[in-house]
Order: sequence, then C-alpha cells, then structure tokens
Amino acid sequence: RWATHGEANDVNSHPHKVGSVTIVHNGIIENYIELKKLLEKEGYEFKSETDTEVACAVLDYLKNKKLWNNLEIIKEFSTYVKGSFALGIIFDDELDTLYATRCDSPLILGLGKNETLIASDIAAVIKFTKEYISLDNNDIVKLTQDKTEVYNKELELSCKEKQTVNWNIEQAEKGGYEHFMLKEIHEEEEVLYNTINEYVDTMETFLQKMPDFTKYKKIHIVACGSAMHAGLIGKYLFENYSDIETSVEIASEYRYKKVFYNHNDTLVILISQSGETADTIACLRKAKENGIDTLAIVNVVSSTIAREADKVLYIRAGVEIAVATTKAYLLQVAMLMLVNLKMMAEKSKIDDIELKATLNAFKTSPKVVKQILAQEDKYLEIAKMIHKDEDIFFIGRGIDYAISMEGSLKLKEISYIHSEAYQAGELKHGTISLIEDHTKVISIMTDEDLYLKTISNIKEVKARGADVILLTTPSLDNDYEFADRKIVLPEANKYLVPMLSIIPLQLIAYQVAKLRGCDIDK
Ligand code: BG6
Repeated sequence: RWATHGEANDVNSHPHKVGSVTIVHNGIIENYIELKKLLEKEGYEFKSETDTEVACAVLDYLKNKKLWNNLEIIKEFSTYVKGSFALGIIFDDELDTLYATRCDSPLILGLGKNETLIASDIAAVIKFTKEYISLDNNDIVKLTQDKTEVYNKELELSCKEKQTVNWNIEQAEKGGYEHFMLKEIHEEEEVLYNTINEYVDTMETFLQKMPDFTKYKKIHIVACGSAMHAGLIGKYLFENYSDIETSVEIASEYRYKKVFYNHNDTLVILISQSGETADTIACLRKAKENGIDTLAIVNVVSSTIAREADKVLYIRAGVEIAVATTKAYLLQVAMLMLVNLKMMAEKSKIDDIELKATLNAFKTSPKVVKQILAQEDKYLEIAKMIHKDEDIFFIGRGIDYAISMEGSLKLKEISYIHSEAYQAGELKHGTISLIEDHTKVISIMTDEDLYLKTISNIKEVKARGADVILLTTPSLDNDYEFADRKIVLPEANKYLVPMLSIIPLQLIAYQVAKLRGCDIDK
C-alpha cells in the first residue's frame, strides 16, 4: 500500500504489527503525533514513521488493559483516534478471525463463494464476487471461516442489505488497452450515451426526472479535485445562463470554514465520483446539520454521499480504475449541464424549441465524442512537442479557465510535469516572467464572448517567446499566426463545448505520461 506518512519503503508499508495486534489501514489518523507521545511514555517504541503503527499500538495498549473482548477493544479504539480509517485487524489470540472497521474511509465486504473479502471498493474484489455489503461508519465486522457478522457501533448484530454490481469483470480489465486511463477515456462515448439515455428522452420526461430548483437563489458546489473542477464549469453555467449565484468550494476548506447559510433559498451540491471522499462527506453532513437542502452528483450507487444526500443524480460512468479520473469528470460536467438546462427552463430562460434542440444535441453528443477520440495522431504530435518540458502553462478566460484547471491537473497528476492553469488575463501580473523562449502555453479559447480578450493574452505570451498550442471551436477558428499547434473541436451545440473540450487534454496528458515512461494508472 502507498505510504501516506514517511517514505514508501518496507518499514512504512502495511501490515503493521505492534505487540499482539496486526493491522492494515486506509485513511489518516490526524492525532497520531499526540497519541505517539502518550504511547512512548507507556514504553512503546516505533519502527516506522506511519500513523498506522500508532493506531496499531493504540489497539495493543487497549488489549493489554484486559478490560474488554476484541470487539469491545475496536469500539473503544474509535474514541481515541481522530481522522479517517478503514482497518483490517488480527489479534494474536484469535488468529482465525479477521476484524474490520471504518470511519470516514470506505470499506465494503465482498461476499464470495465460501469466502468474504474486505476492500475499499468493489472493483478490487470483482474477480471474486459481484455481491457486496457497504459498511457504515463505526460498523465492526467479524469474519471467520464460516461466519460473517456485522455489528453496529452499539455492538448489536446488524442485518445489512446485500448489493450487486451492475458491471462485470471485463469492465475491470484493460480489454486490450495499454492502460486503464486510455480505456476509460475511450469509454466516454458509451458512458455518456448511458447517462444521457437515462435522463433525456422527451423534453417532458427530462423535466420530470430533474429535481425542482425553483426555490433556490444560491448554490454552493462542494467537491475535491477534478469533481471540484467540474463544479467550476457548473458555476459558470448556473450564473451565466440561469442567473443563480453560485460558489465553488474545495471540500477540505468548506468543512472547516464559516459558512453563511440561508435556509430558504440555498442548495448545496456535492459532486463525487466515489461518493466516499471524506471531506466531501463532512461537507454534506455540515449542510444537513444546518438544515440546508443537498443534492449529490455521484457515480457509485449506494455510496455514503448517495445514501445521505436529500437527492441524488447518478452519472453512469461504471468503474474507474485509473487513479486520474476521466470519464467520471466528463459525466459530472454533463450532469451539471443538464441541471443548468432544467434551471433555465424553470426560469423561462430557454424556450421549448431551443430546449428540445439542445436535448437532441445531447443525445447525439456521443458521436461527437467519437470524432474527438479519433484525432489520436494530433494529440500524440502535441505530446511529442511538450513531453520533455518541465513547466507548462494552461490559460483561458471564464469557462475556458475552468477547463484549463482540469487540463493542467490531468497533465501534472500523471506525467509529473509541473503545470499551472491561469486566468489568461491574470498571467501578466507577475507570472508572465516565467514565460521564456519555447515555454509551452496551452490556450483554451472556446468562449465566444471572451475570445478576443484571450487572443490579446496569447499574444502577450507569444511576445515572450512561448510556443502556443491552441484549443478552439470551428466558429472561433482562424488562420492565427500565433498558434504553433492547433486543435479544433468538431461542430457541436454551444452547450456541449465545455464538456467536449476536456477530451483532447486528457489524451494529451495520457500521451505525455506514456512518452515519459510514467506509471500512468497509479
Ligand atoms: C482524488 C482523485 O484523489 O479525489 C481525483 O485523484 C478525484 O481524480 C478526487 O477527482 C475526488 O474524488 P471523488 O471520488 O470525490 O470524486
């Protein structure tokens, strides 16, 4: 397992054993330094730099008190630690039993034939079973050869609902692709079709299936990583087309900050592929505790966020195995676009004719995705141009800045090239000093209202010697002398462009990482 504390070496790797207890851990124990000091006073010595070894020592310390049985020790443990954990635990005095528990880190039980498996996600055990149980916070599982018992936090035996995944093993395999990331990008056509098919049939059914947004005057979109970048696109759409004031908040900040809620007119939208991201879950609970309506845009059915939010809109991305999200991000953007269309309709900002035409455009959008995917040579050519660079800039204005953010994250996340996204007009206020001869600047220019302004900014970087890669639409395409390379998206309805623009950037990031020999999926 990847070490979150200390170097990734054998000593810091799981499992950890202290005294008579052995554990594996996913999550972060936030008060581990404090606990470590207390335990050192009790005579504990630590071999690793990890929080996990400390968690293990807490369990051993409780065990040595001889006050409780092993189930009770695990219950007691959760009162000592702060943070998130999913644990697999073995006690030396009960070697035929595997215990597991969780708090704010995901944990499922895979129900196989004559075997039960613990994992963070069903994808990890799909080879063995399609049936699973999602565990709640502070549930404790006791697994023996022939028994699977789940206890709630009061240590009462509880009966959990069994779930079955609606995708199969082939989807968790590469299916001929070199990497999961590439496979998942190529699945965008199909998953978009599946998601749109579920929500968009006739205009009437679409309007019925979408939630009612009429009472909301303010929206907080809360998410992490790429899901937050999808939220930035949502903000632009909700504000510009539906006239609804929207803020986009990073979940790890929002959960701790002072939020001014207005109960009658505020909606909190949580976006999460997994539905299990601890910070996003905390924000959902914060909104609910404050009596605020919540809507989740989630991929994983029955995940914590899906279960706890007032309303859920599911994207149908299937399983995402590559660590860098691609198809789920695309669908999050698609769903926000559908939400925006519903809000526009409610506010009479779009008439029936345009709405019908836009919904039809959505239905045919998978074909446009296919055309974009087909331009592989173009993306490889650009990847070859930039893969030896160490600093790359993405610039854009308005919605194009939101797209730049995700393009830049994708690139740095998997290729390890330092990359930054800048609002095109802001670059000149300092950072432009980093633009030198042949610095690569990827310029996103799809916004019809702002493109002339973006051109001025591209010219500024060009004047400092940058090599410019331009991503634009057919209607804004021209014989620009400043573009060293150009990607022109296919003709598409204007509402689809922000969703389509990311695909070339995902493929460029993939090709760059491959040229650099990176471990792309991990
Ligand atoms: C990160 C992933 O760790 O979590 C990102 O690498 C993802 O791809 C982010 O966007 C948020 O995850 P989720 O499941 O809440 O969408």
